Amino acid sequence: MKPLVLLGSGNGLDQVREMLLVQRPELDIVWPGEAGAERAHVALCWNPPPGSLGMYPNLRLIHSIGAGADQIFKDPSRAPQVPVCRIVDPDHRLGMVEYVLWGVLHYHRSFDLMLQNQARVLWDRPAQRPARETKVGVMGLGELGRAVASQLAALGFDTRGWARRAQQIQGVTTFQTGEINAFLEGLDILVCLLPLTPETVGILGSKTFAQMAKGSVVINCGRGEHLIPDDLFAALDSAQLRGALLDVFEEEPLPVEDPFWRHPGICLTPHIASSASYEVIAAQILHNLECLEAGASLANQVDSQQGY
Ligand code: GLV
Repeated sequence: MKPLVLLGSGNGLDQVREMLLVQRPELDIVWPGEAGAERAHVALCWNPPPGSLGMYPNLRLIHSIGAGADQIFKDPSRAPQVPVCRIVDPDHRLGMVEYVLWGVLHYHRSFDLMLQNQARVLWDRPAQRPARETKVGVMGLGELGRAVASQLAALGFDTRGWARRAQQIQGVTTFQTGEINAFLEGLDILVCLLPLTPETVGILGSKTFAQMAKGSVVINCGRGEHLIPDDLFAALDSAQLRGALLDVFEEEPLPVEDPFWRHPGICLTPHIASSASYEVIAAQILHNLECLEAGASLANQVDSQQGY
């Protein structure tokens, strides 16, 4: 068995390694530079440093340890014929539903305002409005976005969804690429669950915010690169946006000097919206190793043309 090489850092790569060894102790798993790494036939990645994938000429599989694989497609040295797989886990989906519901309810029920009021020792009772009067739009209707939109609709929110391909989700009004203006028009809360592609980089910018309702909210659980930070600050400072809940950042961990930390309109979390358990990640990687060894088709292979 040739070694498996671990590329990148953070987001549990160490824990995935431990879990793989619990399940298959005979596996040879190495970090770059360790003996035999150059012969690796599988790379397990979170965020491989650009240029690293090209250093392993025998790769037959590149496996993301997360749901996203955009970090892998950013490496220009990746051999295009090597399949890329990702993790798909129902608990990951549930975790994302919980996170987004929390975020939507936080703003819909004005908990953001009440936290500010508590800090000012102010007893003020914001008006309650029914969910059906809050327009929530979900950008990206993949595994996660579909589940989120359908649960928002089940709670009674006026829910819209936007995706490249036509989709049908019960209770959700869906829009396709060319219908972005109609999708955004008057939204109170915009949730980004898009994959990161050249078309979606910077999609959360002034033009998008201007079409939403005055005093609306953005929740970004996609990737940091979806958001243009200066446009966000301008929209918050002009009160076009009332708040932003951010879980993902261009640079992670978010540097201590980053102004996101201190802006009163921003609530941020350290990329915890949802992830698969290490057991599931390890089991799916092991399954794909077996498929690879048996010459069978791989599970959860990413379309390398589309990048997701
Ligand atoms: C998290 O962002 C993931 O891609 O799993």
